[in-house]
Amino acid sequence: MSLILNFLFVSSIYLLILVRDYLRRRRQTLPPGPKGLPFVGNILDMPYDKQWLTFDTWSKHYGDIVHINVLGRHMIILGSFQAITDIFDKKSSIFSGRPRSTMLNDLVGWDWSFTLMPYGDEWRKNRRAFHQHFQQSAVSRYNTIYLRESRNLLDMLLTEPDGFLHHLRQTFAGTLMGSAYGIRVSKKDDPYVSIAEAAMHEASEVTVPGAFLVNELPILRYIPKWFPGTRFHKVATHLKKLSDEMLNRPFEAVKQSLRDGTAEPSITATLLQSLPADEDNAEAELIAKRVGASAYAAGSDTTVAECHVFMLAMAMYPGVQKRAQAELDDVVGPTRLPDFSDRDSLPYINALIKELSRWQPIVPLGLPHESMEDDEYRGYFIPKGTIVFGNTWSILHDPDEYPEPDVFKPERFLNPDGTLNHDVRDPGFAAFGYGRRVCPGRYFSDSSLYSIVSSVLATFDIKPKTDKYGRPAHLEPIMMPGIISLPAPFECDIKPRSTAAVDLIRGSLDDSL
Ligand code: HEM
Repeated sequence: MSLILNFLFVSSIYLLILVRDYLRRRRQTLPPGPKGLPFVGNILDMPYDKQWLTFDTWSKHYGDIVHINVLGRHMIILGSFQAITDIFDKKSSIFSGRPRSTMLNDLVGWDWSFTLMPYGDEWRKNRRAFHQHFQQSAVSRYNTIYLRESRNLLDMLLTEPDGFLHHLRQTFAGTLMGSAYGIRVSKKDDPYVSIAEAAMHEASEVTVPGAFLVNELPILRYIPKWFPGTRFHKVATHLKKLSDEMLNRPFEAVKQSLRDGTAEPSITATLLQSLPADEDNAEAELIAKRVGASAYAAGSDTTVAECHVFMLAMAMYPGVQKRAQAELDDVVGPTRLPDFSDRDSLPYINALIKELSRWQPIVPLGLPHESMEDDEYRGYFIPKGTIVFGNTWSILHDPDEYPEPDVFKPERFLNPDGTLNHDVRDPGFAAFGYGRRVCPGRYFSDSSLYSIVSSVLATFDIKPKTDKYGRPAHLEPIMMPGIISLPAPFECDIKPRSTAAVDLIRGSLDDSL
């Protein structure tokens, strides 16, 4: 009897605690935001396109922390430097999770990419291994690869200038494949690049909101494959095959070349060579495999998008282009191409690279984080499981920090004497994401961009196309929708600056790079 009484007593206390917590939650105030409808919340307020602009308007109206609810899912949009620092940096132990996609994480198995992994020990181990090879002090190891690939780019621009968007993709694919696996990619239809591009392209399509109901209603994943209306199973099986190939093919090639004694130096080769011979290395090998594939998956589209922004900015701002070229002519001279030893003497080029990431941030809403516990911020309640966006676009277009934010103006980062002004907030703070999940590839990307920007500007003039009357086409930055937002395809005229530039390009291909 006393056992039953004890049980009832403990159960009632437990129930009281649950009820108290429930009532407390109901009383707690969520941050302000547009009023939604019953059950579906703000689904009808959600813009289909360029969400960052609508979110920016909401931040101006409701404040720098805005709450919306989409089909029962809480979402928070942070629209100021202060709110972003408070949440992602100061409360990083709570706000470093990643929302899960049932299709990508659970059915396709894409969480080998630690970008998509939940926060925790496994993520930490993968990120640590990645960091060793991509941290600031490590990325100069790949200088010869960045330079080799940007020299190839110059050659491709000389031969087929109108294909510049494709050539930029090819250049960065070569840079990543070279550094991660020691693979030299072929100029057309490289098998490793084709597999990776197909896997990434198709994976990005399944994350489009509304593309697969199973993402919104994860329980549907348990419906058997034979049941009508379960096309998602078929798509997932196809994508899993592509994803496995992207993960395994280049990795197995490195293993084979190590066995044959023909391996080129690479991150994967270094990771494999460091494994002790007489131990069970299954976990370490898996991590080594994920490092290269995660770099390609997270790094290729982003840096390529930034290169497209570069070409567009140069075609739109001839004055900026001229000033950058004058600096290169002055520091590097006409008899060689720029390299990394010049970088510290090129403040305008460095300012231009900063301005690229500020002017049109190519991940304008960052990647969403997820809160891992209930929390309170400025008296507002943020429930566990809330999806949190830092609106990078708002931060980088804040006119108080960056006057005339829509204008491409590298000199905003310079002192009157032409040196870099470190008091202006570095756009890298926002462009590469936040807190513990900040982009670990940012130094690699920066070095590669420097190599591309300086080499192209030293040798080519980039202009808008002209019509038959010689009038230049009007260009403007039309950014496409998506987590990674590229400029819409555009044309421009790319011509060598001189015959000496042509000779330099041809000569550089004979180097031992
Ligand atoms: C212009 C180029 C790039 C931009 C703008 C960019 C931006 C970003 C952003 C916004 C995030 C999300 C951070 C967050 O969750 O708050 C991210 C994550 C990541 N980036 Fe980059 N990135 C670039 C290039 C690269 C490159 C070249 C690599 C690889 C070599 C790379 C590897 C990664 C990885 C692995 C993550 C996931 C980190 C994690 O979840 O812990 N990124 N990047």
